[in-house]
Amino acid sequence: MLEATVKKILQSRVYEAAWETPMSPAPFLSRRFDNQILIKREDLQPVYSFKIRGAYNKMAQLSEEQKAKGVIAASAGNHAQGLAMAAKLMGVKAVIVMPRITPDIKVAAVRARGAKVILKGDAFAEASEHAQQLIKEHGYTYIPPFDDIDVVAGQGTVAMEILRQHSGPLDAIFVPVGGGGLIAGVAAYVKYLRPDIKVIGVEAEDSACLKAAMEAGERVVLDQVGVFAEGVAVAQIGEIPFSIMRDLIDGVITVTTDEICAAVKDIFEDTRAVSETSGALSLAGLKKYVQQTGVKGQTLVCINSGANTNFDRLQHIAERTELGEQREAILAVTIAEKPGSFKKFCRTLGKRMVTEFSYRYADTDDAHIFVGIQVKPGGEDRQAVLTKLREADYDVEDLTDNELAKLHIRHLAGGRPCEEFTEELYRFEFPERPGALMNFLTRLPHNWNISLFHYRNHGAAYGRVLVGMQVPNGDRVHVEDYLDTIGYRYWKESDNPAYRLFMA
Ligand SMILES: Cc1ncc(COP(=O)(O)O)c(C=O)c1O
Repeated sequence: MLEATVKKILQSRVYEAAWETPMSPAPFLSRRFDNQILIKREDLQPVYSFKIRGAYNKMAQLSEEQKAKGVIAASAGNHAQGLAMAAKLMGVKAVIVMPRITPDIKVAAVRARGAKVILKGDAFAEASEHAQQLIKEHGYTYIPPFDDIDVVAGQGTVAMEILRQHSGPLDAIFVPVGGGGLIAGVAAYVKYLRPDIKVIGVEAEDSACLKAAMEAGERVVLDQVGVFAEGVAVAQIGEIPFSIMRDLIDGVITVTTDEICAAVKDIFEDTRAVSETSGALSLAGLKKYVQQTGVKGQTLVCINSGANTNFDRLQHIAERTELGEQREAILAVTIAEKPGSFKKFCRTLGKRMVTEFSYRYADTDDAHIFVGIQVKPGGEDRQAVLTKLREADYDVEDLTDNELAKLHIRHLAGGRPCEEFTEELYRFEFPERPGALMNFLTRLPHNWNISLFHYRNHGAAYGRVLVGMQVPNGDRVHVEDYLDTIGYRYWKESDNPAYRLFMA
């Protein structure tokens, strides 16, 4: 079977539609991880993912009669775009059925490539059923996203290029896995020619259908599938891909959402390319492999499989990158609700970079603050921060791995105080450098109580802070005189309707 698959890969027709993509060196990553790391740039394909290869090769095998009737797929993802482009190049009618909830941007991308889009059902299963019905009615040919030998062969051309482009020593190739079309093609080609090279699958932790199948010794259907990396959100590994690769691959690594986000950033820093979450998956796995095995001086390739991301998602991805690198600890700390305790807490933290600080007055005794702190990767440094705070008698809850905290609570911490009081609200801008926050707090008169504080490091040159202060009566007319001495730009916000409606 191996030889037959390799023959199909060698005979694949992909280059009428796909490009031979480069392998980019990743100098920052290579230095950081003590290995030569290369990135196969499938994000540079005309449809911004490798999927054009399999779709085109499959279509190239159809008879004239099949082509005359048209092709169909149920997909809201990269397969839809690959198929639409392949069909357009061949002058074949393509129908793509998508669930009604598919974002407009994806619908538009497929339409722009000339395919007919039918929106049907609320979930993928209904779209898929409708596609089957249309096949019966119109005689369309179904083009599967991964469970097909010609699709697998088309995807396998990625490996053909990797071995040709890098003929020197190569230790492992990391491949993202959804339904397994790509890894089956890559594994077949690589193991036939260079069995010494490891082929390692990478899956998102919450859609690890290949790992489950390898452990069970047969294909299993996952009860639930996480969709953060939507390109690989598949509940069951494909039958044909599994039968090809099961005895060929060297392992499967699973990674978390935060680790995927960190990999998106790594790829950006080395290549300036913005990859989609599924596209960065393989690098997240590569990093984990290096950390787990401790390998050094090897040559490792990861496949950046796609770049079809919604621009709006980047904000969330950026937010989670520090956590993915384990460079940020998220803590809930209880401090005393009295003037000076905020400053004391910052002093206890010392010179550490504060990445986030959210606090709202709740009652007269305790104040709960939501705080992000930059730490060194690996967990030890985070533990050191926890120990230090606990030794200073602070009640600390580590929320770094708490999904609720990271996704929602950080945006909700605060609200209205439960009793009425007067506070002065100001927004400040200060140069983002270590100690700037402490400098600010030190200059505030010691008898002013901080009743609200919000700060988030956005990686910009200037930090922005919102501060509520309980100022004693006598000082109130002089607030701005004090603030002028601090030297940071500020704006009075006490009358801002957003504040009045939600916080005051
Ligand atoms: C960007 C991206 N990466 C990886 C995959 C996984 O490919 P496969 O289903 O062949 O395993 C997909 C599948 O659509 C994808 O779109």
